[in-house]
Amino acid sequence: MRAIKGFRDILPYGSSGSDTSYYWNSILDNLRQTMSIYNFSEIVTPVMEYDSTFKTGIGSDSDVSKEMYEFVLKKDLSGVKNQIDDSYCLRPEGTAPTVRSFIENSLYKTKKINKLFYLGPMFRYERSQKGRYRMFHQIGIELLGSKELYHEVEILHLAKTLLDRIGVKDYVFQINSIGDSESLKKISSAVLSYAEKHINSIGKDDLEILNKSPLRFLDKAIHKYKFDNVPRTIDFIGVEPLERFEKLKKILNDLEFNYVVNNQLVRGIDYYNDLVFEVTSKDLGTQNAILAGGRYDSLVHKLGGPKTDCIGFAAGIERIALLLDQQQFNDNQADTVDFYIAYQDSQFKDYSFKIADKLRNNNFKVEIEYEAKSFTKQMKTANKMSSKKVVIIGEDEFSKSLVRIKDMSSGEEKIVNFPTELEKFLEDIAS
Ligand code: HAM
Repeated sequence: MRAIKGFRDILPYGSSGSDTSYYWNSILDNLRQTMSIYNFSEIVTPVMEYDSTFKTGIGSDSDVSKEMYEFVLKKDLSGVKNQIDDSYCLRPEGTAPTVRSFIENSLYKTKKINKLFYLGPMFRYERSQKGRYRMFHQIGIELLGSKELYHEVEILHLAKTLLDRIGVKDYVFQINSIGDSESLKKISSAVLSYAEKHINSIGKDDLEILNKSPLRFLDKAIHKYKFDNVPRTIDFIGVEPLERFEKLKKILNDLEFNYVVNNQLVRGIDYYNDLVFEVTSKDLGTQNAILAGGRYDSLVHKLGGPKTDCIGFAAGIERIALLLDQQQFNDNQADTVDFYIAYQDSQFKDYSFKIADKLRNNNFKVEIEYEAKSFTKQMKTANKMSSKKVVIIGEDEFSKSLVRIKDMSSGEEKIVNFPTELEKFLEDIAS
């Protein structure tokens, strides 16, 4: 038996390259803290949606909608054939479902600006490789209801705070503007006429992409075909979007926010306008985007809601975990405990158990083993786990209701009575 190709287990601990729940929990803890300080609230949407949500939302020709896992439900429970509406898919991304829910539940009536975040599995039938899976997890942020430049700055800052708190190092923020709908038309015709020169070297599938969505071909021209002098979006965008982008850069400069401008950066999903950005890491190989997003002002209206300006991004949890693993994020911490309880004779087991219970009730992380192991072996295990302190229970401690505590870094020992002095001791080290 094995897991489906491109679907992965998250293990409690593991060898290099596997996902461990230790990284995951640390990433998710930092996410929740960051969301709280930026005052974003969690939204949970189903993993399955009508596929029209995405076909309309992200563009039926986009790479992402072509990679969807789709299901057609032939019959409902009464045996009657369903309408065309009943074709479902596993969500490939979180923006379109968030917008669908925002409209369906009229969240815009509750608040003028909705600051939402989500986390969960996404599904794309892609060629799997390191950092690219068919089931992967995203943390995503959507700010709905603002055209304000400072909100763009806030979203970029939030992304940086999140990565810093998680402990990711050596990442680069790349930003670009693709302008408004008029600019997009101009960029598209520039790409089409540019591609004319290379038409004989472009594959059949890519020619189709070029004709349906020239902007997406831009990325292929650079990365797949490595063509020279590929058009830069900035040369074709209108005066207003250009001014907007200049202002954004100025605010970022004033705030000493590090970024690079990449005027050939475009995204694989069709809903964006103006700002697009990606955070990349050279440590990730070909799948080097940790996080990506931008402004999307027409999606809410396209999906049937009122005109609403939005910005957002999503980050791949597996890619962040991979980076932490590669960047040697303290690998042993998963096994570390505050106290290891070592007893010299099995008749002290009950008493040792009571002490473990007391420590755990005071929120300390404790390990105690029950199989017959010599005292020396127990001390070796405590060392291997890098236990901060060891409680030693011998004849004396047992008969006089005492607890001997050894600090493993200084070697210092302290004897306290159980339970009163132990209680005080725990209070002292916790404060
Ligand atoms: P995306 O660029 O398709 O954007 O995905 C965002 C991030 O998800 C990527 O940068 C990457 O870290 C991760 N990711 C994507 N595909 C895979 C995969 N097959 N395996 C592992 N990780 C993957 C979106 O999904 C947009 N909804 C982002 C957004 C939110 N834009 C505005 N709001």
